[in-house]
Amino acid sequence: MVSEEEIRARLEQAGQSHLLRFWDELEPAGRASLLSELALLDPNELREHCQRAAAACAQEQGPLERLDSRMQPVQPEFLGSVRKSDPQTLQRWEEEGFHQIAQNKVAVLLLAGGQGTRLGVTYPKGMYQVGLPSGKTLYELQAERIRRVEQLAGHRHNTHCIVPWYIMTSEFTLKPTVEFFKENNFFHLDPANVIMFEQRMLPAVNFNGEVILERKDKVAMAPDGNGGLYRAIVDNGILEDMERRGVEYVHVYCVDNILVKMADPVFIGFCVLKDADCGAKVVEKAYPTEPVGVVCQVDGIYQVVEYSEVDLETIQRRDESGNLVFNAGNICNHFFTRSFLQTITREFEPLLKQHIAIKKVPFVDEDGNLVKPLKPNGIKMEKFVFDVFQFSKNFVAFEVLREEEFSPLKNADTANKDNPTTARFLDENGIRIPEQPSTLGTENPPVLCEISPLVSYFGEGLEVYLKDEEIHSPFILDEKKAKLLEKA
Ligand code: UTP
Repeated sequence: MVSEEEIRARLEQAGQSHLLRFWDELEPAGRASLLSELALLDPNELREHCQRAAAACAQEQGPLERLDSRMQPVQPEFLGSVRKSDPQTLQRWEEEGFHQIAQNKVAVLLLAGGQGTRLGVTYPKGMYQVGLPSGKTLYELQAERIRRVEQLAGHRHNTHCIVPWYIMTSEFTLKPTVEFFKENNFFHLDPANVIMFEQRMLPAVNFNGEVILERKDKVAMAPDGNGGLYRAIVDNGILEDMERRGVEYVHVYCVDNILVKMADPVFIGFCVLKDADCGAKVVEKAYPTEPVGVVCQVDGIYQVVEYSEVDLETIQRRDESGNLVFNAGNICNHFFTRSFLQTITREFEPLLKQHIAIKKVPFVDEDGNLVKPLKPNGIKMEKFVFDVFQFSKNFVAFEVLREEEFSPLKNADTANKDNPTTARFLDENGIRIPEQPSTLGTENPPVLCEISPLVSYFGEGLEVYLKDEEIHSPFILDEKKAKLLEKA
């Protein structure tokens, strides 16, 4: 263990000596835990981190750089679209995707290190039950989609197919996530193919550039953003693991989109056939001022532009056909080749922008009282997963239907959008049922109809089960029910 003297010297070097100001009052256990936390912080990095945070915060208060005049929409040749493509083209992409999946070249990677403060639950968001009739959690639904896509690819190509599931967690989410998966028998996935790893944490800093003490014996730490992925995969040997397994393509996604199509064969096939090293699924914006980032070019280079970086006029601009010019809403669904990830980690990670988030960070005041601030007092520094688009040599975007693929769970049910109810409603109704029995939709409120991902991944095969079926709310089509209907 690093000695107290050594830590004092390091903190002095970093300009953060105040972190030991309650030292004399601490019990041995508190001292030990504070020392071990501080020992992980490199003094030079810490000094830089604090200075950068304070400087970025001061800059943030000033006028934002406007990007309007430098923006161009995604070029049509680099944009695929589910809506605008003919069935043959979609089928070709799907076949290619299944072909790659069947050769075990595709993995999925879940970003699950966030604190989910807006949703306001004390456990990882993936453990949230969205209120489906079956009571399934986000993790369970995702596990079932992986199993189903493995089955579909395996049947088509007569192979035993594995889609490894990499899960990036943080200090907040790792332990409960591991326990939850164990309690649930890994949702019938082979634990060897579920690889959890932890991202780094960074200290939260006040507006004067001082690290915040959350308790007398604890520094306020926060995960380093979903762009912390690129350091975390190096720290944890993830690229080597992918190489050992023969994984070439990775589908990266956020934990909170209940409709996410993991390892979507159409998306994977499109990216592979376009020879892309990096790709992003996008949806049409729901309305011009919707607060989502837009995938576009700035000075000819692809990136995500946040709605706060552009003027209203640009946001509302329409082309001759009346469509929004900047319409490609980013939904945190990305395709990367393993070799692109390797290049990022080796060459570009240090260049990724540090974004600042100004938050309310609980702290101990000078007298040692715990304070829950009423206004923001702290700066958290984060990197974003999509900030690597600029380094792509062949970037593509792929437009999918919002009602089929995007229903994020961000807020508690009190908020009126992106909340558990919207997500649940879409999952129940988003899958198109080929032959709708006459009772469907005539009831009020709408029919509760939940189809297990184990029965159908994207609506395929449902006619077999639902053709002559009377549907009464709540209707759950799980594997058991599907078998019964098949026999009938
Ligand atoms: P969000 O931006 O929605 O953040 O993350 P969040 O932390 O989950 O929620 P709030 O802002 O506190 O309410 C988008 C995705 O990125 C992951 C999240 O788990 C989610 O899947 N993420 C976010 C990380 O993996 N690590 C981070 O440090 C931050």
